[in-house]
Amino acid sequence: MRLDKFIANNTFYSRKEVNKIIRKKMVLVNDKIIIEATYKIDVLNDIVKINDLVISNKEFIYLALNKPKDYICSNSDKEGESVLNLIEENNWKNLHIIGRLDKDTTGLVLITNDGQFTHKIKNNKYHVEKEYEVVLEKEFTKEMFEELQKDIVLDGKKLKPFQILNINRNKLNIILTEGKYHQVKRLFAIVKNSVIDLKRIRVGKINLYDLNLDEGEYQEIDPIKYEMK
Ligand code: URA
Repeated sequence: MRLDKFIANNTFYSRKEVNKIIRKKMVLVNDKIIIEATYKIDVLNDIVKINDLVISNKEFIYLALNKPKDYICSNSDKEGESVLNLIEENNWKNLHIIGRLDKDTTGLVLITNDGQFTHKIKNNKYHVEKEYEVVLEKEFTKEMFEELQKDIVLDGKKLKPFQILNINRNKLNIILTEGKYHQVKRLFAIVKNSVIDLKRIRVGKINLYDLNLDEGEYQEIDPIKYEMK
């Protein structure tokens, strides 16, 4: 495979950027500086490095993105701009978003090309926790809290237990282990309150605040580190 293609396929560098770093003599194949973008490598045996960083021929990619408002979690741009447009060099086949956040929800979104991983995160059987910071229109009262302790049915099914914590007037956190359409908003509508701001801050052990991502930024993550694979 051509050296420039290999690097573009396995990093965030675009083809143009790859050419730049090759010209800057930052790319080594088997510890030898290579200055031709067209240089052919053996993907199974050659070791390609950018400075000291080894570029592996990986099959799967896992990204954590801090979603800004007004982007949609969809693979198409039909109903608004997709968060996938925020991923600069999006040349992985089957790259898709794991689950959906509403257009006006911000926070942690996972993106991958690993369908099995997506299935695991989304499958209710695995109880992957999703934590949200919620700002409500009105104060969250003891009565509302008690009302939400009762069995709640959405879409004809009883909801799995969820936790409400860090209550401070009209702000709180909620931890869900399943993902139904508009679940958080519909839950608080039951107690005649409404969500005015919603941010997902955690999926499993991946905490948005540990990642230090500004809105619109993303980074590659290792699911093994988060015990998700
Ligand atoms: N629940 C909602 O109501 N909206 C989201 O975006 C996520 C969970």
